[in-house]
Amino acid sequence: MKGKVAVVTGSSRGIGLAIARTLAKNGCRVVINSRSQERINSIASELQKHGLEITGIGADIQTKEGADQLIQGAIEKWGGVDILVNNAGINRDNLFLRMKEEEWDEVIQTNLKGMFHCTKASIRSMTRKKWGRIINISSVVGLTGNPGQANYSAAKAGIIGFTKTLAQEFGGRNITANVIAPGFIETEMTDQLSEKIKEQMLARIPLQRFGKGEDIAEMVKFLASEEAGYITGQVLIVDGGLAL
Ligand SMILES: NC(=O)c1ccc[n+]([C@@H]2O[C@H](COP(=O)([O-])OP(=O)(O)OC[C@H]3O[C@@H](n4cnc5c(N)ncnc54)[C@H](O)[C@@H]3O)[C@@H](O)[C@H]2O)c1
Repeated sequence: MKGKVAVVTGSSRGIGLAIARTLAKNGCRVVINSRSQERINSIASELQKHGLEITGIGADIQTKEGADQLIQGAIEKWGGVDILVNNAGINRDNLFLRMKEEEWDEVIQTNLKGMFHCTKASIRSMTRKKWGRIINISSVVGLTGNPGQANYSAAKAGIIGFTKTLAQEFGGRNITANVIAPGFIETEMTDQLSEKIKEQMLARIPLQRFGKGEDIAEMVKFLASEEAGYITGQVLIVDGGLAL
């Protein structure tokens, strides 16, 4: 992966940061992103101290302008985008009877439409190079559903249909598109859950531990590699067996 340019959306912390670190350690030039330029700059400079080729771009990927700013920034800095990891995501959980329209819209806008904008902005660079890897972070709840997450599950299921379509439209240009569906990964997103819910989740995981960002990052590393060049349109579940 030496010299490949990777953009990881939503990578100031959690799964995105673990993915960025892993790709950079394996020779990629990585653009990290979150909404705040100041915050992402400080994370990038911390990682650069370890000799990693990382730069930060603050941009809100919910909007076309934000996504264009991120991808154009990567192209201007390093001449193109080879690997796009659509990772940025939020949750606004509520049981359906109580779910507000804003909660639905916010989640769809960030988790699904943001992916559309970032992919749209990157795809020409990949088609020109006749090489590309699109790796979209969904969730096991996109496959199973989950009470309290009608908005989130719908967005995460949408990602799967979107990715399978891209795989078919761009296979001829040597661009692969795959989905990773994580289970319960320890990050600030899951920190919000009550101890009771965490205990119930843990009891359902055959491997008897929560996942770490690095568990997802290793799958991204593989899907981004030359060795994964014959894998496209797939959903790779990384969940310790939770969804079984
Ligand atoms: N943690 C889990 O158990 C879990 C499970 C399945 C799927 N996922 C998915 O993995 C991805 C990462 O989750 P996480 O747990 O690391 O979350 P997190 O909340 O810890 O981090 C989310 C990141 O996305 C960024 N972000 C959010 N909205 C953004 C926007 N509009 N523009 C730019 N950046 C934005 C945040 O700044 C942050 O860096 C998400 O798509 C999430 O849905 C997480």
